[in-house]
Amino acid sequence: MTRLLAFSGSCRKGSFNTRLVAVAADGAIAAGAEVTTIDLGDYPMPLFNQDFEASEGMPGAARDFKNLMIEHDGFLIASPEYNSAFSPLLKNSLDWASRSETDDEPPLQAFRGKVATLMAASPGGLGGLRGMVFLRMMLGNLGVIVLPDQLAVREAHKAFNSDGSLVDDAQQQLIRDLGAQTVMRARQLSG
Ligand SMILES: Cc1cc2nc3c(=O)[nH]c(=O)nc-3n(C[C@H](O)[C@H](O)[C@H](O)COP(=O)(O)O)c2cc1C
Repeated sequence: MTRLLAFSGSCRKGSFNTRLVAVAADGAIAAGAEVTTIDLGDYPMPLFNQDFEASEGMPGAARDFKNLMIEHDGFLIASPEYNSAFSPLLKNSLDWASRSETDDEPPLQAFRGKVATLMAASPGGLGGLRGMVFLRMMLGNLGVIVLPDQLAVREAHKAFNSDGSLVDDAQQQLIRDLGAQTVMRARQLSG
């Protein structure tokens, strides 16, 4: 069975991005995937510092997150846009996950050959679209197959119903479809 890891670049209570990725995760589950949804706030790790890594090694939470990435075929990621880039929480988590712990560990195991779909939500007019440019570029450089379809939800403070679904039915369906498409592509790639 295809396994996807779903997470948001925000650990804010009531995060729009966390709500958004949950909709995509539902779409992926309906398409037959097993989805693990995590909150990056449950994986607290220090700001990456190579001296700290050299003296202390990889923090347990970073190893746990990296192992989850390794164990899954692909990712559903929604990130806030902070000053036109994706969030520092997400960047730091991905930086830690990019590190090998031993010389014989294959490089970038958490990334290479995985499939990812990106989405974003923001109260602003562009919906966090600009942050996804950097995220797409970074993940692509690390060997992730970032699928072309993505969606940015603008005016996110008005976009969600209290049950977590999107007010706009068409948008709700598009986000669910992103989840389903990710499953389909992950299946195709695994042969
Ligand atoms: C430091 C900072 C920078 C921000 N920069 C942007 C920005 O460039 N574009 C944007 O649309 N929203 C920006 N925002 C607003 C966020 O989109 C908003 O706080 C959003 O709710 C964060 O996502 P979340 O709801 O998933 O936590 C910024 C917020 C913060 C705290």
